[in-house]
Amino acid sequence: MKPNEETKILVTSAGGKTGIPVTLGLVEKGYCVRALVRQEDARAKRLRDAGAEVRVVNLADSRDIRSAMADIDRAYFCAPTEANGLHYANVFAVEAQQAGIKHIVSLGQWLSHDSHPSLLTREIWLVEQLMNNIHGATHTNVNVGWFAANYFFVLETMAQLGMMPMPLGDGLNAPPSNEDIARVVVGALDRPDLHAGKKYRPTGPKNLSPEQIVDEISCALGRKVKYKPVSEKMLLKSLRAEGWPEVMQTQFIIYLEEYRRGVFGFGGPTNAVLEVSGQEPEDFATIARRYVQEDPVARITFRSKLRAIRKLCNAIATKPIHPINTEIQRGHALINDGLLCSDSQQWKDAYAQG
Ligand SMILES: NC(=O)c1ccc[n+]([C@@H]2O[C@H](COP(=O)([O-])OP(=O)(O)OC[C@H]3O[C@@H](n4cnc5c(N)ncnc54)[C@H](OP(=O)(O)O)[C@@H]3O)[C@@H](O)[C@H]2O)c1
Repeated sequence: MKPNEETKILVTSAGGKTGIPVTLGLVEKGYCVRALVRQEDARAKRLRDAGAEVRVVNLADSRDIRSAMADIDRAYFCAPTEANGLHYANVFAVEAQQAGIKHIVSLGQWLSHDSHPSLLTREIWLVEQLMNNIHGATHTNVNVGWFAANYFFVLETMAQLGMMPMPLGDGLNAPPSNEDIARVVVGALDRPDLHAGKKYRPTGPKNLSPEQIVDEISCALGRKVKYKPVSEKMLLKSLRAEGWPEVMQTQFIIYLEEYRRGVFGFGGPTNAVLEVSGQEPEDFATIARRYVQEDPVARITFRSKLRAIRKLCNAIATKPIHPINTEIQRGHALINDGLLCSDSQQWKDAYAQG
């Protein structure tokens, strides 16, 4: 018997950016892992081939989650990047308590505080409080900032047209890889005795400006890419043209305001990756090389270039949403006088040390 085989760990959102490396990391440590995915596909097969028990579930359906919790000792809760995260967290919390789960690691957010103007961020803050209060379970919160993976939303444009169109201003960030975030989650699941009740903010090793980030991506792509700080309006046009869910368009624009105000660089970088996983965090050059290599849209061909030009024209011709009106029309739970982290002395005092 492998050393950890008797401990069963549940991984939610196991087909996602952090869920895949968390599942693989736990299997590698010899744990018995139940990985919850939304659909049977290549990602599910990869997890199953690695040795995880894969189940297709709907995180909104208590019956699925109840059955998935049977015999589970510890769990990773990761709300998908979309609406309903708080609902999924409630379903998870009710069933985790019923099932007697002993330790939970949840993915939070660096911006998280109770009066942030972003609905999703306030929900993530509520999820953290919920997970802190599950009877019989300890909790570790991984309150990560802006993922390295986010820059690669525009990989096709960078590879084919040589520009990174993002409204980042001069904001700094020490971007963590999905794999390093996962290493922290795995470390916290592996050693509840060391990490219960703690909060960790995984970052990369160095705060970088948008120009430094784009230089590393240029090296990885083998072509010059220029940082193009586009307007919010242009970004909203692109997000809509790309088919992003409206709720994410409304929230992303708020996160970019925080980015430009330097909130993602504030108090960073941290030593969380080394402290919890025992490994140094990956630098951005290494991350960029891997993400470029793994993604076929980075291959430069005449057809791909034409497709990128067509997409750009389509974005320019797209009418952007009006974020506040969209939130009102969608019936989002809004608050008056919400405070960005950059305007909140309380948030700054709490997190000045990262
Ligand atoms: N990106 C950032 O910079 C950032 C920063 C801080 C915090 N976060 C937090 O990170 C979390 C997201 O983590 P992630 O990026 O690892 O996740 P992710 O890539 O968004 O993955 C979410 C997974 O959940 C699955 N899913 C969606 N709805 C489901 C449902 N109803 N039932 C079952 N499965 C469902 C999706 O399946 P399909 O893939 O099949 O659709 C997907 O595989 C969010 O809570 C976000 O707030 C992100």
